[in-house]
Amino acid sequence: MNLWNNNAFQYVKHLQMELTTECNGHCIMCTQDTLNRTKHMSDKNFAKIIEEVKDSNIDTIFPYGFGEPLMTENFIRKLKYIKHELPHIKIILSTNASLLTTNMSKKLISLIDGISFSMDGYDQKSYEHIRLGLRYKHVTKNILNFLKLNKNTIETKIYITVQSINRHKLTDMLNYWRNKVDVVTTMDTDSRCDSLKDKEPHFRNRATRYPCFYTLFGKIIFDSDGNLKLCDQHYETDKGLGNIQTNTMKELYNSKIFNKLRELHMTGRKPNIKKCRECTTFYKNGGFDNPEFVYSYGWEK
Ligand SMILES: C[S@@+](CC[C@H](N)C(=O)[O-])C[C@H]1O[C@@H](n2cnc3c(N)ncnc32)[C@H](O)[C@@H]1O
Ligand code: SF4
Repeated sequence: MNLWNNNAFQYVKHLQMELTTECNGHCIMCTQDTLNRTKHMSDKNFAKIIEEVKDSNIDTIFPYGFGEPLMTENFIRKLKYIKHELPHIKIILSTNASLLTTNMSKKLISLIDGISFSMDGYDQKSYEHIRLGLRYKHVTKNILNFLKLNKNTIETKIYITVQSINRHKLTDMLNYWRNKVDVVTTMDTDSRCDSLKDKEPHFRNRATRYPCFYTLFGKIIFDSDGNLKLCDQHYETDKGLGNIQTNTMKELYNSKIFNKLRELHMTGRKPNIKKCRECTTFYKNGGFDNPEFVYSYGWEK
């Protein structure tokens, strides 16, 4: 028996589902390009996950993973389906905003509850250096157009991944965006379980032993193949945690192996898990701990 009574599933409020891994960007801090799993989640996996949410305490769905959600096949139809089947559920999106036409923006405003625009550059040069393949002027125009159409209907956020090239311009970026959106989040890039190696000096700082409560109890994550993931920083498939077609969500989240991972985190043995040992997200004086780098986290103003 353990503190959570072998039923961590009762606490889960957030669901992340990777509807596509396809993307029109090649951002330097993202591992999306290296993925070799199914590009688009099957309708069968999608429908089973949505069906099982009915039997849970989940209140928010993030319909994306590693990939650009606006490249999801029949994306608007899928969002409508979620709203129809789960009218009480909040839908929150993260997008690179490159495909945010006026038409798409209007549809999204009527269907989702929050949107996070990924905007890491402070000018054309820095943006196009970080977000390879995307265009600064086009993306900025799309975001500003969305905000005008939105008229404060849904919550909006600018999400800045902090790295060497933009760190010195954070204040300028915050000042530009702070009165235009509800929240501006600045977050040190993480090393994606060491796959980015020593690309950034701050990657030398390794994870603390603090348990990742949100990952262990707050969020349930499925990749595009329907496999359960331990954490959304794990870009590779988490093998061995099971698949939505073979078990229920509750069985997967309460499984022996997932409970073992929880136990390792909760007893200071997080570094025993290789991917967690190499994670840089929660290191001391950076990431979430440092108010200088985290202007705001979550949806509260
Ligand atoms: C993987 S993207 C998927 C959604 C969409 N394509 C986008 O760019 O918003 C989700 C978020 O992860 C962020 N991201 C990508 N690589 C990261 C890294 N190494 N560390 C922290 N955040 C990262 C992106 O900036 C984006 O805000
Ligand atoms: S951060 Fe988003 S836009 Fe950039 S490569 Fe990754 S998934 Fe694509």
